[in-house]
Amino acid sequence: MIGQIAQNPCYKQYGIIAQNSNRRTEPFSFLFLSDGKNNFEKIKNMIEINKNYNESNLETLKRIVDNTIDLTLTSPPYDNLRMYKGFTMDWHTLIKELYRATKQGGVVVWVVGDSTQKGSETGTSFKQALFAMECGFNLHDTMIYQKSTPPLTHNRYEQNFEYMFVWTKGNPNTFNGLREPREYTDNRTKKAFGRNKDNSVDLGYSSKDETRLKRNIWRYFAGGGANDKIASQHPAIFPEALAQDHILSWSNENDLIYDCFMGSGTVAKMSILNKRNWIGSEISSEYCNIIEERIKKAWEEKRKEKDLQAQTLFGNEM
Ligand SMILES: C[S@@+](CC[C@H](N)C(=O)[O-])C[C@H]1O[C@@H](n2cnc3c(N)ncnc32)[C@H](O)[C@@H]1O
Repeated sequence: MIGQIAQNPCYKQYGIIAQNSNRRTEPFSFLFLSDGKNNFEKIKNMIEINKNYNESNLETLKRIVDNTIDLTLTSPPYDNLRMYKGFTMDWHTLIKELYRATKQGGVVVWVVGDSTQKGSETGTSFKQALFAMECGFNLHDTMIYQKSTPPLTHNRYEQNFEYMFVWTKGNPNTFNGLREPREYTDNRTKKAFGRNKDNSVDLGYSSKDETRLKRNIWRYFAGGGANDKIASQHPAIFPEALAQDHILSWSNENDLIYDCFMGSGTVAKMSILNKRNWIGSEISSEYCNIIEERIKKAWEEKRKEKDLQAQTLFGNEM
């Protein structure tokens, strides 16, 4: 084990002294494991959390005991579209393993697209979703990540979305539904979308809420690394807002989040900023350097926030 938990073997203390593989001691960072409903006792001898592992996800998963992870938020390489340094993946074993390691009521968000080969989309995304169901997951929602992409010019309409499959192990434990501004059409009651018994349509007005539950097509600017010079060294990063929106929707503070294809570390960064625990796997050591940099910056940001809070408290006492 590379890092060392300071003092408290039950991980309930707010702080670790982390050592990286060069045995350098990193600055103090925070764990979000206070007390709460999570019991990390069962994994503490197997794997250190709040850490990225430079290895294949199947290796990491061997050290994650059954029913541990609250949320996996991840994006696999699409049909080896980008070869990512030549690494390949065995998604059948991976999805089976994710089912095993996911808590009852836990969630996997699998963001994926298909490549076009010999004139046909591969359909791998659907195969993966159907296989996840065979493994026992519910296909809770098929969401769309709509993105702005440069024109690719070919004989079909421009591709501008990816699937975000939401797989759940039973009923989801957590759903913190995000909201968005209402549209004028929302003024119709639920009933108005169907017919009354006499075949009339009720066009009455309902609630005066200014917001409504978000719909399941989410739009983000792709190339979320534009403002993050470190992240943009990776070819396929999540928009930070996409990662944050899923983290807030399907997990609570202190929960454990896993990204089995960590890439540039977006899920780690957004977990830290939103007070979640996390684990990552990334097979390329080059990308792991990007992850380490981003994590360090996220901890610094969090630490500044904490210092500011402490100052405010001190100010209140004066
Ligand atoms: C689509 S990218 C993920 C990008 C990530 N969501 C982000 O925001 O940066 C997929 C990543 O998976 C990594 N990868 C491929 N096979 C892997 C494996 N078997 N285990 C762990 N990582 C793997 C690739 O090196 C690549 O960085």
